Amino acid sequence: MAGRPAAVRPDLHALVRDDRVHRTLYTDQEIFAEEMVKIFGGRSWVYLAHESQLPEPNSFLSVRMGLRPVIVTRDRAGVLHAVFNRCSHRGATLCREQSGVAKSFQCPYHGWTFRNTGELVGTPWPQGYGEDFDRTEFGLHKVSRVESYRGFVFATLNESAPALTDWLGPATGWLDYWIDRAPGGEVLVRSGVHRMGYRGNWKLAYDNAGDGYHPAFSHRSLLEMASRMGESKDMAYFGRSPDEGPMRTYMLGNGHSVIDQRPNYDGPGSFWANQRPQPGRERVEEYIRAEYGADADRLLDLCVGSQINLSIFPNLLIIGNQIQVVEPLAVDSTQLSWHATSIGGVPPEINTIRMRTQEDFPAFGEPDDQANFEEVQRGLAAPEAEWVFANRGLNVPGWQEVGPDGVVSSTATDELHMRHYYATWLDLMTSGGAR
Ligand code: FES
Ligand SMILES: [Fe+2]
Repeated sequence: MAGRPAAVRPDLHALVRDDRVHRTLYTDQEIFAEEMVKIFGGRSWVYLAHESQLPEPNSFLSVRMGLRPVIVTRDRAGVLHAVFNRCSHRGATLCREQSGVAKSFQCPYHGWTFRNTGELVGTPWPQGYGEDFDRTEFGLHKVSRVESYRGFVFATLNESAPALTDWLGPATGWLDYWIDRAPGGEVLVRSGVHRMGYRGNWKLAYDNAGDGYHPAFSHRSLLEMASRMGESKDMAYFGRSPDEGPMRTYMLGNGHSVIDQRPNYDGPGSFWANQRPQPGRERVEEYIRAEYGADADRLLDLCVGSQINLSIFPNLLIIGNQIQVVEPLAVDSTQLSWHATSIGGVPPEINTIRMRTQEDFPAFGEPDDQANFEEVQRGLAAPEAEWVFANRGLNVPGWQEVGPDGVVSSTATDELHMRHYYATWLDLMTSGGAR
């Protein structure tokens, strides 16, 4: 009897071309399963948490590393660890809380207990295990390496991965700008999380985060609403002629990129002056100007977004003042978690109005994007139409430039960010060894 032919793994090199990628990168279960191993922690660093979410010894946080449930912990000495949230007995998740403080975790299934650094410390009724039972062999699976960059905690399962700062490369300079906007660099993630789900592949969020082409169309209602409030409101520059304006998008290596909107602004106070309406804005401005005089413009600008969109491959998006984490759930299902941030060293009113800014885009803009993600996924169900194009800006004279630091930049609507991260994607998916 003839058996089924062995499944032939698609040649990924044929599916990622200079100007396009194949639809199956968004729809194929096997490719997705492979991504969860190779992209999310196999050879790359993956963002897990911000240190301020683990504020004291023995804090923990439940996260995901691709599909792997993971607990990030601080031990009693304050050192960070990451362990699989998977009991070494029969596999149940150990910790079912989002966050908290715990020296140890007891599995709800049969009561095995593990220290927050992963060692097995207790098995109920131990007489049921033979003399050869060695507890040290039954610790939790540990994530090989956990490193922080100025509060941003990343992990990898690759023992021989490059140092985190090497993986981030020039992205560190952009993170520095974002962190150093806070006086003393004190950024705090402590305001809960706004979670959203969409029925689409995780990379759709990535395609979009660096995309300066879509805002004029996808976010038209938002831009029209803002323009009724006066000239030159935040983001209106995407609706004029973004390729002739001063915005640039920069490729930062390893799939990371950033759109810099700051050149649309001119000097202290201009971030604040161009923000869309916010509840309480006038009262706060009056108070801050009266109390802080010459320092008011600096303080008020901190209430408004950073004016950069920094995409760190594969799962961290810095948008305005928020930290957005891309969490794949299935080939066609993704969760986006928006973490608002507050900052130290400012009057409390600044953080209050800053929160109003952080409610603005996730409420009025992000639904436009997610609707498009779902509609792309629906469109990609047609197998005969095979390609997704990322060719805008390709071979267009004068768009791309190489800076003195070797960083390639282009105008805001260039789809270079997609071509850039897909090169990293292909490398991670196809080369076996460590980088
Ligand atoms: S599965 Fe955890 S103790 Fe049995
Ligand atoms: Fe958008």
